[in-house]
Amino acid sequence: MLSAEQNERLTRTGPGTPMGAIMRRYWQPFALVEEFPDDRPVREIRVLGEDLVIFRDDEGRYGALARRCAHRAGDLAFGRREDGGLRCPYHGWLYGHDGRCLEQPAEPAGSTYRERIRQPAYPCVERNGIVYGYMGEGEAPPLPGFDWYDAPASHRFVFKALQRANWLQAVEGEIDPAHLSYLHRYLDDEAEGDGTYGFKQFLAAADDSDVSVTTILREVPNPRLEIARTDFGVRIFALRDWRDVTYVRVTNYLFPHTAVVAIGDWTLVQIHVPIDDVSNWRYDIFYDFRQPIDGEALRAEKLKTYEVPGYVPRRNMENRYGFYADEQRTGTYAGVGYDFNIHDTMILEGQGAIQDRSRENLAYTDKAIVAARKMLTEALDGDIPLPMDGCAARYDHLVSIDAVAPAGEWRDAWIAKQLDRRARSGWAGGIAPARLEALRAS
Ligand code: FES
Ligand SMILES: [Fe+2]
Repeated sequence: MLSAEQNERLTRTGPGTPMGAIMRRYWQPFALVEEFPDDRPVREIRVLGEDLVIFRDDEGRYGALARRCAHRAGDLAFGRREDGGLRCPYHGWLYGHDGRCLEQPAEPAGSTYRERIRQPAYPCVERNGIVYGYMGEGEAPPLPGFDWYDAPASHRFVFKALQRANWLQAVEGEIDPAHLSYLHRYLDDEAEGDGTYGFKQFLAAADDSDVSVTTILREVPNPRLEIARTDFGVRIFALRDWRDVTYVRVTNYLFPHTAVVAIGDWTLVQIHVPIDDVSNWRYDIFYDFRQPIDGEALRAEKLKTYEVPGYVPRRNMENRYGFYADEQRTGTYAGVGYDFNIHDTMILEGQGAIQDRSRENLAYTDKAIVAARKMLTEALDGDIPLPMDGCAARYDHLVSIDAVAPAGEWRDAWIAKQLDRRARSGWAGGIAPARLEALRAS
């Protein structure tokens, strides 16, 4: 439970807020590359409560400008992308990707006024299907060495989705291992569902063993939890003992607003970028160490769940997420279809735009959430250095696993599985020996 003041401090990320200052020290996904078609690569966005326009210039560089023109607030979302920059539709002031004013065509000939004008701008980089921006002060740091930045395009898939709730409850949902046994439960292993990509499809093939993970999730409702604080956040082990095996899931909280989870043999990175304090973009990055991902097939499945270009879920609060009482009796625990993303969206939007944490009663299963909040609070208080601050080091120990191991052997089994995957990837390499030792000790 938090006081109302603590809750405010943790959840608000607009300009001038303490948590907003922390968020601004990390590269934020601004948009998917697919949102910038060649015929007009311009897109307005809202992020951390700021309105921006992102565009790709003639030389392929991305720029993020404040959305309202420095002259008299013309809306650059309707700007003309030409002559090496973005031109305001009101009086034609032309801005470069870095915010410099390149032309003021309505001013008297010979005027040098433009040299004193600077449109607020943030640096951007494109990496593996996503345009990232840096909104902090000073020099932008390098991108950290995460596997998903290096994965070949053939082995990754990116998408995004609108969630109308505060970013923190979205993150907390991802690092809550117990809800898989309830919210995402399928009542019938054989049910076909509605054809969307749900947990069920992944979990049926989650491991090389013939044990049905769907069954274990359903039959072991109270996982044992172990958590370990790391240099990037919190590593979470969820352990379900069933007959002669242990089902182990390794999930990570990545400071400040990301979860790294296993979906079968895939890793799924879910970054919850605040749009403002009552909505967030969930950026999904899937990657597979061992084999290519069929991006077209996955995208086709995603389009059954989401409308593009808005990336808005077709099941949403207006239509009560398509809740169907018959399905809740016989098909799924939640009754809102078979896509686990919709289960999560239904829950986190239903918690209220900003969950009131002064009314919660935390339990054993919330261990990781408590650890994540503690880390955020210590960072806010200045008691710890910001994790990964300005650091380009490799984070090869940021690993996720979904594995069934012989009972009593899970500690070695999950690491062996991770090492085997990386070794076979051809691009990810091994894990530094010192970090491997840290993994074994955790
Ligand atoms: S408002 Fe943009 S050029 Fe005048
Ligand atoms: Fe979930």
